[in-house]
Amino acid sequence: MTQTLKLASRVFHRVCRAPELGSRGSDSAPRGLADLPGPSTPGFLAELFCKGGLSRLHELQVQGAARFGPVWLASFGKVRTVYVAAPTLVEQLLRQEGPLPERCSFSPWTEHRRRRQRSCGLLTAEGEEWQRLRSLLAPLLLRPQAAARYAGTLHDVVQDLVRRLRSQRGLGAGPPALVRDVAGEFYKFGLEGIAAVLLGSRLGCLEPEVPPDTETFIRAVGSVFVSTLLTMAMPSWLHRLVPGPWARLCRDWDQMFAFAQEHVERREAEAAMKSQGKPEEDLGSGAHLTYFLFREELPAPSILGNVTELLLAGVDTVSNTLSWALYELSRHPEVQMALHSEIKTALGPSSSAHPSATVLSQLPLLKAVVKEVLRLYPVVPGNSRVPDKDICVGDYIIPKNTLVTLCHYATSRDPAQFPEPNSFRPARWLGECPAPHPFASLPFGFGKRSCMGRLIAFFLPFQILIHFEVQPEPGSAPIRPMTRTVLVPERSINLQFVDR
Ligand code: HEM
Repeated sequence: MTQTLKLASRVFHRVCRAPELGSRGSDSAPRGLADLPGPSTPGFLAELFCKGGLSRLHELQVQGAARFGPVWLASFGKVRTVYVAAPTLVEQLLRQEGPLPERCSFSPWTEHRRRRQRSCGLLTAEGEEWQRLRSLLAPLLLRPQAAARYAGTLHDVVQDLVRRLRSQRGLGAGPPALVRDVAGEFYKFGLEGIAAVLLGSRLGCLEPEVPPDTETFIRAVGSVFVSTLLTMAMPSWLHRLVPGPWARLCRDWDQMFAFAQEHVERREAEAAMKSQGKPEEDLGSGAHLTYFLFREELPAPSILGNVTELLLAGVDTVSNTLSWALYELSRHPEVQMALHSEIKTALGPSSSAHPSATVLSQLPLLKAVVKEVLRLYPVVPGNSRVPDKDICVGDYIIPKNTLVTLCHYATSRDPAQFPEPNSFRPARWLGECPAPHPFASLPFGFGKRSCMGRLIAFFLPFQILIHFEVQPEPGSAPIRPMTRTVLVPERSINLQFVDR
C-alpha cells in the first residue's frame, strides 16, 4: 500500500511539472490557489476600467503575463478565474481533460435557458447531454463528405455576396469603389451562409432590402455579446440595482430563439410532408442540418436550441475572420497578389467554377493566411475550462470546479513563439521561421469540445479575390481589435473593391 502511494506520488509530480516551466525540484510540494500571484479584486477592476474597460480584456492577458508570469489568479465580477498564458501550460491543462469537458457551467447563457425552460444547444450544454448532442452533430458537420455537401449551397451565397459588394460601392463619400463597414456586409453573408447550411433556406440578407426579422436577429447577435460580458462582470447584488444588462441579454436570446423557431417550424412541416410521400433517397437531396436532426428524432426543443446556438456560433466568427482577412490583405498587396494567383490556378479557366471543399482547404497560402489572421485576431481571445478533478498546471494544483481562462490572445502574440508578433506574415506558417509550439495559436480550441464549424469556416469566400482587388481606404489609420466576448474590429473597416 505504502509502495503504491509512493509510486502515485512520483507519477503525480512528474505529470505536474510542465516541460519548460516546472523549475522547482520534484521533491517540493505543489502549490495551491492561495500561492498564485495576481491583482487584488479592486486593483484588477480599477486597472480594467482605467485601460478602457471590458473591451480591452484581451490586452490585460498580455499585461498579466508580463507582470505575474504564465499563471495568475484574478476575480472578474462574481467570477474567480485562473489565467494560463504559456503554450506549454495550455497544453498541459487541455491534455488532462476528462471525457466530458466543461467550458463554463455558470454562464449567463445557461441561466437564460434555465429560466426560460429552453433546451441548451451544443455551445451551452454540459455533461451527458452535451456528449449526446456532440455525437449526433459531429458526423453532420465535421466529416469532410458532409462539409463537401454544404460547399454547393455556399457557392450560390458567395455569388450573391459578390453582387451585393458591387451594389454597395460608392454609396457614401470617398472613392467610387469604397464599401463602408465591410464587417456589416460579411455579417449578412455569414448569416445567409450558415442559415443555408442549417436550414436549407435563403433569408434574403444579401438582397437590397433585408427582411426586418433578419435585421432583428443580426442586432441581437451583436448586442448579446456586449450584455454577456457586463452580466459576468457585475456582482450578483448589483443585478438588482442595475437590471439593464441581464434584461437585454434575455431579450436578445428571446429574439434569436423566436427567429430560429419560425424557420425550424417551417422545415419541420416540410420534413413531415416529404416523409409521407417520398422514398428515403429523395429526402437526402438538398438536405440541410435541421432535416438530419429531425430524421434522428431529436426532440423539437433540442433542435431549436441547437439551431439557435449554431447560428450565433457561425455568424460572428465567420464574418469577423473574413473582415480581418481582407483588411490585412488590403494592406499587404504582395500577399494578396500571390493568393489571387494561387486561387486562380486552383479554379482553372472558369473563375466562377464551384470550388470543391478539398481544393480550397489544401491551398498552402490560403491556409497560411487563415492561420495568420486567426493568430493575430483569434475570434475567441480567451477560452475557458472547468476541470472535473484536481489538475496540475506547472507548479500549481488547480482544484476541481475552478474556472480556468486560456489566454489564447496572449500566447498567439508572444514574441518567443512568433517573431514580430504584431506583423501579418503568413509566410511564418510556410516554414519561414521555426515552427511555434502547437498550442501557441489554437483558434478552434482543442479536443472533445473543439469547434464544430471548423470545416465550414474554411469556406471563407476567398474567391471574391477573383472578382476584386481589395484596397484600403485612402488615408485610413490602423484598426485595433476590441473584446466584445469575441474579438471584433474597434471601428468600421472600409475597403475598396476594385474590379479586376
Ligand atoms: C473562423 C470561424 C470560427 C472560429 C475561429 C471558431 C472558434 C471556436 C472556438 C475557439 C470554440 C471553442 C472550442 C473549445 O472550447 O475548445 C468553438 C466552439 C464551437 N463552434 Fe466555432 N468557430 C468558428 C466557426 C464556427 C461555425 C461556422 C460554427 C457552426 C456552424 C461553429 C460552431 C461551434 C460550436 C457548436 C462550438 C461548441 C462545440 C462544443 O462545445 O462541443 N463555429 N468555436
